[in-house]
Amino acid sequence: MADSGQFDFDKDVDRTASCSDKWDKYKGTDILPMWVADSDFQSPPAVINALQERVAHGVFGYSHASDSLTEIFVKRMADRYNWHIEPEWVVYLSGLVCGLNVAARALSDEGQTIISPSPIYPPFISSAKFAERPLVKAPVVLRNGRWLPDLKEAEKQLTRKGGLLQMCNPLNPGGTVYRKEELEETLAFAEKHDLLVCSDEIHCDLILDGHLKHIPFASINERTAQRSVTLMAPSKTFNIAGLGASIAIIPNAKIRQRFKKVKRGIVPGVNVLAFTAAEAAYKDGEAWLQEQLCYLAGHRDLLMREINALPYLKLEHIEATYLAWIDCSELPVDNPHRFFEEAGVGLSPGLDFGNRKFVRLNFGCTRKTLDEALRRIKVAVEGLS
Ligand SMILES: Cc1ncc(COP(=O)(O)O)c(C=O)c1O
Repeated sequence: MADSGQFDFDKDVDRTASCSDKWDKYKGTDILPMWVADSDFQSPPAVINALQERVAHGVFGYSHASDSLTEIFVKRMADRYNWHIEPEWVVYLSGLVCGLNVAARALSDEGQTIISPSPIYPPFISSAKFAERPLVKAPVVLRNGRWLPDLKEAEKQLTRKGGLLQMCNPLNPGGTVYRKEELEETLAFAEKHDLLVCSDEIHCDLILDGHLKHIPFASINERTAQRSVTLMAPSKTFNIAGLGASIAIIPNAKIRQRFKKVKRGIVPGVNVLAFTAAEAAYKDGEAWLQEQLCYLAGHRDLLMREINALPYLKLEHIEATYLAWIDCSELPVDNPHRFFEEAGVGLSPGLDFGNRKFVRLNFGCTRKTLDEALRRIKVAVEGLS
């Protein structure tokens, strides 16, 4: 926890004058912002120092990734996931959402379907819309207390072979960490329907249960590798989302070429500070990350206890991410999002993800903020009885 550790996650950093999307939404109100997925923590000191050094250099011309960044990333995949990737499979991107959109266009042809879990992080859905591809939703259901897309339900809606299957692992919202058998089931489904796969693994470093391990879909075997694009980033892990550095890993040369062709002239290069931050984070951020995981796991445990002790609300165990997907279907109000805003807690509306009976709470905040949010939620919910 923060008191015994090297880093202070309890530190109150005032974000109100920093053009923060999260904080400015409720500027001038007494609503605690707990919506968009960045955290309130300062990035690891190693990242801040590296940025300061790079800023002191004073020249910010066009740039590319250093060989050392790619080497560190390749090694990270091998060390953490036993996934042996080649440097040429790595494609840098200025954000992960643009990776979702490029993949939607590059990995499906006109008229082919995009299959997406639902509820899901909204840019999955809009990527199909922007690419003008029909969308099939795989309803996310509870399987033994874990949220997972029901591919059999999606299958009933398929009318032809080919297209793209989108995955989110760990799942946002829901926090599910896919097990090997579930990835194998996904592969079988993709093979049966001749689908390419785009696996968004942006939350892969934020596993809150020590006994669980992230397994990249593409790392399972050559068959998963050859039909997939994997998207990762240091942005959630080290709280550098505003800098914009993401990575696509594309083992298949033809898919990689198509992906690069679609992004050409449209997706800007990664900015020099984002590269600097990404390299420092991956190289020197591990101790900070481990402490952050303990801190967040403590928040998760508190939330589970407090939310599930209240009437009307339900929260399943969150295996990963700092995002709590709270079931408000029993809450006797029309609009749960508005109800909690009126109680002084600004959550993400479930409707944005595909289920208006839910809200998503971002617990990437100090314990003090979380305690206050829980206090307000309790007062509001108990006031209904
Ligand atoms: C699953 C998922 N993918 C992508 C993103 C955003 O990525 P970026 O900010 O790099 O575009 C988020 C942010 O919340 C996310 O949860």
